[in-house]
Amino acid sequence: MPLPSPLDTFKRIAVAPMAGGPSSPALVIAAARAGHFAQLAGGYKTAAALETQIAEVTEAGVQVFGVNLFVPNPHPIDEAGYAAYWERIRQHASTHDETATMAPRLEDDDEWAEKLDAVIRSRTPVVSFTFGLPSPDVFRRLKTAGVLTVQTVTSVDEARRAAAAGADALTVQGYDAGGHSGVWDADTFPENVPLTTLVERVRTVTDLPLIASGGITRRDQVREVLDAGADLAAVGTAVLLSDESGASATHKAALADDRYTETILTRAFTGRPARALVNAFVESHADAPVGYPALHHLTRAMRANATAAGDSTLVNLWAGQGWRDAEEGPVVAILDALEP
Ligand SMILES: Cc1cc2nc3c(=O)[nH]c(=O)nc-3n(C[C@H](O)[C@H](O)[C@H](O)COP(=O)(O)O)c2cc1C
Repeated sequence: MPLPSPLDTFKRIAVAPMAGGPSSPALVIAAARAGHFAQLAGGYKTAAALETQIAEVTEAGVQVFGVNLFVPNPHPIDEAGYAAYWERIRQHASTHDETATMAPRLEDDDEWAEKLDAVIRSRTPVVSFTFGLPSPDVFRRLKTAGVLTVQTVTSVDEARRAAAAGADALTVQGYDAGGHSGVWDADTFPENVPLTTLVERVRTVTDLPLIASGGITRRDQVREVLDAGADLAAVGTAVLLSDESGASATHKAALADDRYTETILTRAFTGRPARALVNAFVESHADAPVGYPALHHLTRAMRANATAAGDSTLVNLWAGQGWRDAEEGPVVAILDALEP
């Protein structure tokens, strides 16, 4: 399946977008210079901060790169449920801040409109979406501006709807993926099927270029997803320990710590399913309610304090199923070793 320009200029291994620090401009610049498609993560930061990062990548001479955005798709939690969850996590939240209080409930949109304006103004070549599907108007607006759009999907149904809405390409995110699942209905967890099966199924409903992602840390897995019908394979966890990764020292140390023995899909940190290493916080709050983005904001200070203190038991240690294969070193060495 030929890829449309500009994705067809890349090697087969891409870098998945990772918000919260890992997807630094340095990571994107290094990967792109070596011929790998890479993306900045627009999530959580302000539109102004995102624009600064885009400028850094552009000024480094990188012509084709992506920016990933969180699509507003709120799953609100009511005040009673919010306060009840606070009572449950209060002790953990007070561990590194005795004066911790419940943050006001915040159902924001992560500066969606401002970020759309920013990517168009800065002539970002590729924009990808997760957590939900933008309206056909958004796809049309970006197409008119010359932007290639990529939509994350986690099921055949989402793939069909993304194609119908006007996406130019799809990221097919599998069950084993680290970090947040892009599943549109945050009340549900993505279906537990192998990534190759999901890619094969999506391939039967669309001819769009497919970027397969989730649990890929070895070259044989790359070959399998390409054979299943993907055009590119994207890795996240595999580059979390790389020199250019902006993951925190606490997150990096935990990924290399033998005491962590499994990952799980959990809503404990943000009220939306995400795959993380199982630490004390995940174990204690396995039955966390749905509530994104409110719960993300509720646990934010706790996570920041624990990260600063080097206490990985209370941090969202996003990791895919293949985390044990993650290695240190220059990102380009890690990516090129995975090229089929
Ligand atoms: C630390 C971390 C942060 C992530 N942040 C985002 C994000 O901002 N946007 C997004 O679409 N996916 C995000 N993801 C998911 C990745 O884009 C990708 O789907 C996943 O890393 C693939 O699985 P793997 O980690 O097993 O390679 C994140 C994953 C990780 C590990």
